[in-house]
Amino acid sequence: MSALPAAIDSRGAIPRHVAIVMDGNGRWAKKRFMPRFFGHKAGVDALVRTVLSCADRGVEYVTVFAFSSENWKRPTEEVSGLMGLVLVAVAKYLGKLADKGVKIKIIGDRGQVSDKLRQAWEQAESSTAHNTRITLSVAFNYGGRWDIVQACRHAIADGVPPEQLDEAALNKYMALSHAPDPDLFIRTGGEVRISNFLLWQAAYSELFFSDCLWPEFGDAELDAALAEYARRDRRFGGVDTARSVAVQT
Ligand code: IPE
Ligand code: IPE
Ligand code: MG
Repeated sequence: MSALPAAIDSRGAIPRHVAIVMDGNGRWAKKRFMPRFFGHKAGVDALVRTVLSCADRGVEYVTVFAFSSENWKRPTEEVSGLMGLVLVAVAKYLGKLADKGVKIKIIGDRGQVSDKLRQAWEQAESSTAHNTRITLSVAFNYGGRWDIVQACRHAIADGVPPEQLDEAALNKYMALSHAPDPDLFIRTGGEVRISNFLLWQAAYSELFFSDCLWPEFGDAELDAALAEYARRDRRFGGVDTARSVAVQT
């Protein structure tokens, strides 16, 4: 039997939920003298690879930032290229992801996207709804501020009385209500910011920033992030940590 306190035994655990800001596609393409779209296409391959690697390592939820509420500010050709890429990606990879046990969820404002895209999302969700190995939530036309506002609106529309609207009650209306909060939040591409991703849900996520450009993200980078996560001391505002217990005993 282990003589270590339970807190230490749980160190090194695999995160249940990994959130990823998949950044750096444009710079990756530029380095190769290619158009940005080339980087986005390679980014889809990196996404599929990473989800399957996460599943192999026992991660239960992966949530990725694919298109932000603010990405509409990009040139029209890039925006329409990204919309078209979703259709191509669904056609190319949905069968594989479904076969590998991935449940797909789309989070974000569907109001602004085309009917075709909405139908592709619905097909991806309905054809993988029975899967249980890992849940991939794709944030598309998503912003953390949008999420909080839409949750409040829905709670009000449901007639939730203000005195009953606590954190747990509001969380049920948030876009990621089907998942626990992310344990590990990874951003590739070298920028050290959140860019309006999971503002509510990442309150106590462990943050990991990598200079790796997203299309280059592979098992080595994933394992480096997981190893760093395993070394972190999560306190959630408390003091009873694995590390401090280890030092005292
Ligand atoms: C992230 O890569 C993908 C999207 C935002 C759609 P970028 O397109 O932001 O790539 P960089 O940051 O310009 O290199
Ligand atoms: C964040 O990346 C959004 C996605 C990865 C989809 P951005 O490239 O849009 O973020 P900023 O503009 O550098 O903050
Ligand atoms: Mg970027």
